[in-house]
Amino acid sequence: MKAPEREAHWQNIYQTKDSQQVSWYQVKPEASLEWIASLKLEKEDAILDVGAGDSRLADFLLDEGYQNLRLLDISEEALKLAQHRLKEKAELAQWFNSDILDFKSQQDYKLWHDRAAFHFLRDDAAIQKYVQIAADSIMDKGYLILATFSNNGPLKCSGLEIQRYDELQLVDRFNQHFELLDHQRVQHQTPSGGTQEFLYALFQRNA
Ligand SMILES: C[S@@+](CC[C@H](N)C(=O)[O-])C[C@H]1O[C@@H](n2cnc3c(N)ncnc32)[C@H](O)[C@@H]1O
Repeated sequence: MKAPEREAHWQNIYQTKDSQQVSWYQVKPEASLEWIASLKLEKEDAILDVGAGDSRLADFLLDEGYQNLRLLDISEEALKLAQHRLKEKAELAQWFNSDILDFKSQQDYKLWHDRAAFHFLRDDAAIQKYVQIAADSIMDKGYLILATFSNNGPLKCSGLEIQRYDELQLVDRFNQHFELLDHQRVQHQTPSGGTQEFLYALFQRNA
């Protein structure tokens, strides 16, 4: 899928669906929050949530006092929904409306978090570009938390075909710049009562 189609797809999703009814909705993103807590970051460390959508991760991280939170999504509508919900707290974060494949940053992120955005990239060149952008954006010894559908998970998300992964396949994609520290399979209960198996992986950027 080309970038303009990707953007149109996601704008349409957030304009037409209730973001608390979409399959990926979580009242509290427990697994992400637990892993982030385990990293014992400084409150001023730069954190980027890639494909943040209207996720409640920002609400919890801002409440925990993180002061350098940045949220990126291809859909402007998704970011507006999150900003509207957060009200004045939204000003404590920075917002980027961008396709991650167009994102350019300095190597200043201590943590890059992505739940269910990376797995939409299916062609080799796009996947390699994502890995390079992550490597260019995360500081030496910084962290990457990646949550994708596992090899037991669904074949589609939001009506789009996705790439499923097991831990070896993820390592294969990221090992040029990252070391796998931990991984975990997590059963996600969708709002409609289904179960989806995610694979969470914690990588550390090589020095
Ligand atoms: C399945 S949703 C997950 C949202 C959020 N991470 C969560 O866990 O609730 C995928 C999100 O990634 C965004 N997205 C998809 N492809 C993207 C891309 N290439 N660049 C930036 N964002 C993207 C979508 O707009 C959507 O908000």
